[in-house]
Amino acid sequence: MDLQHIFANNEKWIKHKLDIDKDYFNNLIKGQRPEILYIGCSDSRVSAEELMGVKPGDVFVHRNIANMVSNTDLNVQTVVNFAVKHLKVKHAVVCGHYYCGGVKAAMQSADMGILNPWLRSIRDVYRLHQKELDTIEDEEPRYKRLVELNVQEQCINVIKTASVQKAYKERDFQVHGWVFDVKTGKLNDLKIDFEAILEDIMRIYKIS
Ligand code: CO
Repeated sequence: MDLQHIFANNEKWIKHKLDIDKDYFNNLIKGQRPEILYIGCSDSRVSAEELMGVKPGDVFVHRNIANMVSNTDLNVQTVVNFAVKHLKVKHAVVCGHYYCGGVKAAMQSADMGILNPWLRSIRDVYRLHQKELDTIEDEEPRYKRLVELNVQEQCINVIKTASVQKAYKERDFQVHGWVFDVKTGKLNDLKIDFEAILEDIMRIYKIS
């Protein structure tokens, strides 16, 4: 890819935006008030804004390999805290995707160097749901199910945080688990029962 194209595209984009609304950028600098926090995979095929059809300013985005919400990852924890506590988003979304290389790597045994501890967290999800996963004989559906269960577990990790528990008690706030299918382009809501999970885990993870 010729990087010069990117700058040419950027010039075209600026012109396009200003043609529609001459104050477009003047309005953008006033600040952001996104209602959605999106935590997705870094995979180049799963472009958060494009697949959702949203505009700049609509969604606060965090992406990493396999959309993980690790309890000790200062980066994702800071993003969740800032989005929930300060931006006061109404929705937190964890969006996984089928054909995820990170999840696939976690299903195979290979020494991936610096990636090992990261993949270990996905293997923890496998271990938690081993009974169910091991009943799925074929690799492809098992891999897809692990993608879904990983989304569910990362939603639980979001729910464990103090800022989310507080937001849920005090205002309109929900956590959602979604999966994007690279094969069809379809975005599916896993319909995770956020309230039931919250009730269930509060006994252990309750902050106050
Ligand atoms: Co991925």
